[in-house]
Amino acid sequence: MKATAVAPANIAFIKYWGRIDAAKKLPANPSISMNLSACITTTTVEFSDKFASDEVTAGFDKQRIFDHIDRIRAIAGITQKAHVETKNSFPTSTGIASSASGFAALTLATASALGVSFSEKELTALSQLGSGSAARSIPDGFVKWEGEVARSLYPSGYWDLRDIVVIVGSTGKDVSSNAGHDTVRTSPYFQERLRALPERISRCERALQQKNFQELGQVIEEDCLDMHHVMQTQHPPLFYWTDETKTIMDEVKHWRDQGLPVYFTVDAGPNVHLICEAGNETSVMEKIGNTYQVIVNKPAKGAHLL
Ligand code: PMV
Repeated sequence: MKATAVAPANIAFIKYWGRIDAAKKLPANPSISMNLSACITTTTVEFSDKFASDEVTAGFDKQRIFDHIDRIRAIAGITQKAHVETKNSFPTSTGIASSASGFAALTLATASALGVSFSEKELTALSQLGSGSAARSIPDGFVKWEGEVARSLYPSGYWDLRDIVVIVGSTGKDVSSNAGHDTVRTSPYFQERLRALPERISRCERALQQKNFQELGQVIEEDCLDMHHVMQTQHPPLFYWTDETKTIMDEVKHWRDQGLPVYFTVDAGPNVHLICEAGNETSVMEKIGNTYQVIVNKPAKGAHLL
């Protein structure tokens, strides 16, 4: 009763910020993302009569991992204890969120070790209970998550984009996104964000469908700034940017003025994700120079068993 699963992190083009049901982690709005080829979690889960207790060798939050295994164990009707081994392809100290890849890999490995076969739809709904954005790391490539279900809009080979993550670092004491979702309604701008989103989501889907990079980049940046506007006006306010984050954002605009099509997006941390087409990867890397550590991602397939 042992299985190993691999799952990618993902970057949201249209962000998930806020929930309509905290327990079910039901998102307040649909979101759209791309799976990241170089930010991967590999997780092995084994169940055995020999184990006296659940154990995990590493992980960002052991109790959240145990709670998630309990959910799946209850569905399978099994009481055996589990040993979990999990590792990330990226250093956790970099501030790259590992909860999406982590819970997607954990869900698939646990289900498979228990011999329960779930549909992709069921796996997305289960992963979401561990961490909302983990639902988007189950299907392939470019993914839309709405309500309890995430599905692939396009496979990873559909459009050769890059997400070059510029590692600015992590302060280590950031307010977690998990806590931030709960206070989103204290921002006077949250309702405005919800009103603006349907049109923005349509623009993002159209840009993907037409492979219109400029339109995609513009909507990605717009939504990033809009989400951070809400974050910064919540009580307590959440400021995830550092001076370096802002400097890189300014640089990106400058590079664009010089004719290089590249756009930025930022999640609940200071690192900046630079989105460009494959043909401009080298130019973007030259612009970044040697000051920062970077992680170059291509679109990736979703969670799968090893
Ligand atoms: O899945 P969570 O609870 O870590 O929330 C993710 C929130 C953002 O990363 C800020 C946005 C997103 O859609 O990924």
